[in-house]
Amino acid sequence: MTDTAKDSKASNAMWGGRFAAGPDAIMEAINASISFDQRLYAQDIRGSRAHAAMLAAQGIISNKDAETIREGLLTVLSEIEGGNFPFSAALEDIHMNVEARLKEIIGEPAGRLHTARSRNDQVATDFRLWVRDQCDAAIKGLDALIRALLGQAEAGADWVMPGFTHLQTAQPVTWGHHMMAYVEMFARDLSRFSDARKRMNESPLGAAALAGTGFPIDRHATAEALGFDRPMANSLDAVSDRDFALEFLSSASICAVHLSRLAEELVIWSSAQFRFVAMSDKWSTGSSIMPQKRNPDAAELIRAKIGRILGATVALFTVMKGLPLAYSKDMQEDKEQVFDAADHLLLALAAMEGMIRDLTVNRDKLEAAASSGFSTATDLADWLVREAGLPFRDAHHVTGTLVAMAEAKGCDLPDLSLAEMQSVNSAITEDIFGVLGVHNSVASRQSYGGTAPDQVRAQIARWKEHLA
Ligand code: ARG
Repeated sequence: MTDTAKDSKASNAMWGGRFAAGPDAIMEAINASISFDQRLYAQDIRGSRAHAAMLAAQGIISNKDAETIREGLLTVLSEIEGGNFPFSAALEDIHMNVEARLKEIIGEPAGRLHTARSRNDQVATDFRLWVRDQCDAAIKGLDALIRALLGQAEAGADWVMPGFTHLQTAQPVTWGHHMMAYVEMFARDLSRFSDARKRMNESPLGAAALAGTGFPIDRHATAEALGFDRPMANSLDAVSDRDFALEFLSSASICAVHLSRLAEELVIWSSAQFRFVAMSDKWSTGSSIMPQKRNPDAAELIRAKIGRILGATVALFTVMKGLPLAYSKDMQEDKEQVFDAADHLLLALAAMEGMIRDLTVNRDKLEAAASSGFSTATDLADWLVREAGLPFRDAHHVTGTLVAMAEAKGCDLPDLSLAEMQSVNSAITEDIFGVLGVHNSVASRQSYGGTAPDQVRAQIARWKEHLA
């Protein structure tokens, strides 16, 4: 054997007509996507079945060939699902792996399947179907998480806790109110995925390589068979945009930011310094050296997931920017990013749901913390405005003086005597003590969307009705 003969493999069976030799091994390594795009096998076979049935209905291939193709594709599907499919890097991607195997099984009719189609519209179709499924999975995961948060909110609609700004005690709020803040965020995430799903639900199939096809295909029929609302209206756009994947990743990134913030709160709240909550055994781990430890690993990992999810988002935006129409191979770099982001988002959603469901809340700790740090100073100032007619700025100043006095004495605001308070402002009466308690404070926050337990319960009821 000569060196050349040894080096040269046969040219590609699918597109090698004009090639005398096969690709360099490194070319094959950089070109092949089968190691990851095999995840699209079900969508690929589904798309091919819809395409073959349409070709027969339009008289482009015979009914007999279409039936043979259909059965052959079902055999390929069961081979892949049974784990005994010989994936080949020489056949590049999932599309050619499936078609080559189909040819081995059914022979000549397999060659008719690719009539009026290109891998460009094929991959765009497969990937849209896959991302659409991920939107559905994210919506389901978010729905479950929202229900878990509603459960926590309902249990603690009137439990008082410190509300923070700058992570410094600000004003008392309720546990239910805090949980409901995340319900709002995750519900917006859910609506982002469902909006994205609506927009992506158009079929690229039949756009062919880029220009459409001269065969009398019926794109409405394949769109309908694949559960799409309609065919995409421009063949160049259909094969060359990945905005549906970018929209999924963008929605996933925002959702991962929300998850990360809640995770961080759980980490803080479960620390020895706070003890607001205890993570169940199911969601924490011990330390191999420090026997007392109960680490919030799941929360920490959820906090970190935004790193890879946003990374994937930036990666795909960067791949897509500046690409001329229509298809370019750059776009093969879309899949691993989206696969990874989707896997980790769904895992994080499921873990967060479980943690929230199993969380033990230390109501007494919450209330004790709510009462410290002069958390009702604003209530005192508001009383001075309401009952003593002071301008708010003056009331603010008087209250600041009282806080300084309490701080110097090492006590809380309600521990100051009436005489001490009157020494700062003579308009203060005994009634002031009625607004210095944390329960009165939260109960008074009756503005729409405020933290009063009545308001929180109204929001819980609204969401429960909405989800039912
Ligand atoms: N594996 C390719 C991808 O993922 C499929 C489309 C290939 N098209 C082509 N003209 N080479 O993008």
